[in-house]
Parts: sequence; C-alpha cells; structure tokens
Amino acid sequence: MTDHYSSSTDSANTQYSAESIKHYEAVFGQDFVSPGGQEMAIELIKALDLQPGSRVLDVGCGLGGCAFTMARDFNLYVDGIDLSENMIERARKKCNEYGLRSKVNLSLGNCLDLEAGPTYHGIFSRDVFLHIHDKKRLFNNIKKALLAGGKILFTDYCCGAKPWSNEFTAYVNSRGYQLNTVAQYTQILEDAGFQITSAEDATDRFIDILKAELKKIATLEFNPPEIALLADSWQSKIDRASQGDHRWGIFQAHL
Ligand SMILES: C[S@@+](CC[C@H](N)C(=O)[O-])C[C@H]1O[C@@H](n2cnc3c(N)ncnc32)[C@H](O)[C@@H]1O
Repeated sequence: MTDHYSSSTDSANTQYSAESIKHYEAVFGQDFVSPGGQEMAIELIKALDLQPGSRVLDVGCGLGGCAFTMARDFNLYVDGIDLSENMIERARKKCNEYGLRSKVNLSLGNCLDLEAGPTYHGIFSRDVFLHIHDKKRLFNNIKKALLAGGKILFTDYCCGAKPWSNEFTAYVNSRGYQLNTVAQYTQILEDAGFQITSAEDATDRFIDILKAELKKIATLEFNPPEIALLADSWQSKIDRASQGDHRWGIFQAHL
C-alpha cells in the first residue's frame, strides 16, 4: 500500500505534513515520532550512559521528545537538528513551553551538512538514517562532531539479506529508503572508524511495539477512515517485519 507516513531526505519538508505528524504523535505519544515513544527513548538514553552535564546531538530530533527527555530527566545539554520545518517549528514551541531553552537548542538543517568540530560526548538518533543514502558522509560528519572517546547510539530500520520479496522491494523504493542488514551497518560503522559496542537485531521487540501501537490506534479519537488508514499502515509494518525482510536495529559504538 502507499501511505503518507514516511519521508525521504529530499522530501522530509513536504511529507512530514501537519496531518501526518498529528497521526504519528497520537500513536507514538506526545512529542515522539519513533517506535516505543518515550519508554523506548528512556531505555536507550540510559544505555548511552552519559554523565550529567554532557553535551549530546540528537540527529533528526523530530518533535523533540528524545531531546526534552535527555535534558529534563538526564541533565544533558542537547542540540537537536531536523530537516523538516514542520517538526522543528513544533519542537521549538514545546521547548519554550517546557522551559527547556537553556538546555535544548533546536536547528533546522540537514545532518549531511553538519560541520561541527569535536563538540559532543554523545550522538543519539532514532529512526532517521533510513532516509539517508550517503551513509559514508553521514558517519564521517558524525565522527567529526564527537569528542575523543565519544559515543553514538541509534535505532534504525534495517533489512534482511537480499533477495527481498517484491512487496518489500516496492515498499523500500516507494519510500526512498536506504536500508542495510545489521551486519552491513556494523561494517559501515567500522569503516567510518567507530568501535562497535553492540549491534542488535531487535526486530522481535519492534514487532511487539508495533502490535501494542496497533491496539492503541483502535482507541484513538480520529474519524473512521483515518483510523483505518493508520491501522492498515501498522499492520503492513507488522507483516513486513514478521516476514523477515524488514528488520530493526539498535546500534552502539564509540571512537
Ligand atoms: C521517524 S522521524 C523520528 C523523529 C525523532 N527522532 C523521534 O524519535 O521522534 C525521522 C525524522 O528524521 C528527519 N530527517 C530525515 N532526513 C534528515 C536529514 N537528512 N537531516 C536531519 N533530519 C532528517 C525527519 O524530518 C524526521 O523528523
């Protein structure tokens, strides 16, 4: 099926429409646009294990939920960057409302154009890199932005080894995603000069999260066609992941 719940790097501005953001946020939870919402974010931020007062870059920060959690609950200083004006505009408004401006700085921009020198103790990203085809440039930029000994933690859509089903191939092409197997991702990180801490195929966890989100969709106060579209989109994600082509990875690495 086709839907509007995705975006390629080139079209993040147009495809993360106000309407789709509203739907995403209803499913993932306030200020979140990634699987597992705040609960998963807290687990991952704990795993990144940075000292209070450390500086973090949240790549593709979306509505800011992860950045706000890092600042508020972990006493971290966060720079968030996102390509989508819709996302950044909303995130900035919330940042003001929450009184977090002294700890969270949000910028509109493409992480492929990141020019930060060694600035960050940690880099964090949730389900963003699937949009980015030039992984070499991405991880080179990220590496340059990290302080010596700095850490990276990210989750991302991954894939099973090819050959993929025709349905999965069509899905990936229609979204403009660039997906890797967990093993390929590990190699990309190593080639960029990172040492791998862990590279986990967390697809079973992903499916459990999707099933819980699907149940939640049935309870949302949208009109029936909106609910049907969302439920169809989530069921398709569950099917693709259960069939093994669509996988989900959690990666941790350091310099
Ligand atoms: C699935 S959302 C995740 C948002 C956020 N990380 C979260 O967990 O709620 C993916 C985000 O990546 C952003 N994005 C896509 N390509 C990007 C790029 N090249 N640079 C910065 N952000 C990008 C999109 O605009 C979108 O907000």
